Amino acid sequence: MDTVIGAGLRPKHYQHILAHGTRLDFFEIISENYMDTLGRPRAVLRRLRENYPICMHGVSMSLGSADGVRKDYLKSLKNLADETEPFLVSDHLCFTGAHGANSHDLLPLPFNSAMLKVVCKNIDRVQSYLKRTIAVENVSSYFTWHDNEMTEWDFLCEVSRRTGCRILLDINNVYVNATNHRFDADDFLTAVPASIVAEIHMAGFTDMGDYLFDTHSKPVHPVVWKLFAKYAAKYARIPAMIERDADIPAFPVVEREALRMAKFRERTMLKQKQVASK
Ligand SMILES: [Fe+2]
Repeated sequence: MDTVIGAGLRPKHYQHILAHGTRLDFFEIISENYMDTLGRPRAVLRRLRENYPICMHGVSMSLGSADGVRKDYLKSLKNLADETEPFLVSDHLCFTGAHGANSHDLLPLPFNSAMLKVVCKNIDRVQSYLKRTIAVENVSSYFTWHDNEMTEWDFLCEVSRRTGCRILLDINNVYVNATNHRFDADDFLTAVPASIVAEIHMAGFTDMGDYLFDTHSKPVHPVVWKLFAKYAAKYARIPAMIERDADIPAFPVVEREALRMAKFRERTMLKQKQVASK
């Protein structure tokens, strides 16, 4: 089965998906929602896994922590991965706390050589513990650090080059950061080679007036669709999915939005074929 178009699996949609199935190719789960429970979420996951490829996406690995990634966290994550056999395990290129305090936020990293060392050491450890290559996602952010030495996309590519990890490219986050920090989203998207991208995220932001807030509470914005379409050929065979985490509509609405990605890709392929046959 091709794992090309998917959506984030949310409890609100369990019943619909179990009853009616879906035309989507895969689901992405939030790892933490399934790690330490043997209740309904895990039972539903087992049933869905019989029919659909699953990828696992975590929110608390805190790869930027100088203290390293927590052992108990990795153990739970590995247990879930061993049972689920996901086609991908991912988390964010960020830190989520310091000195034992959890910020409950995906905080951006300083893009410099000292942080590169910390992140790469953590990723090496995670990959050897899980015995698999992971993917790391570019996060949306609302501030940057004074001691940045490189661009976000150079940092991302360098992390992948040093550790062999793949990139989870969130195109909505690229646009949000391009607007909030005043760079060109095209610079980001042309710099990241398709060969290192393992998955693509699409989501909706909220316009707060003087900045964009990555709320996952709205449909994908037309400008982000434009970017998706522009790079559809470059990232054509990479699994792509819709994330919706607030104001979640009925499953068919999310499914339709996800299938739009397939349409953009088909159109791009068709255009390419027409150009090639001329
Ligand atoms: Fe994302």
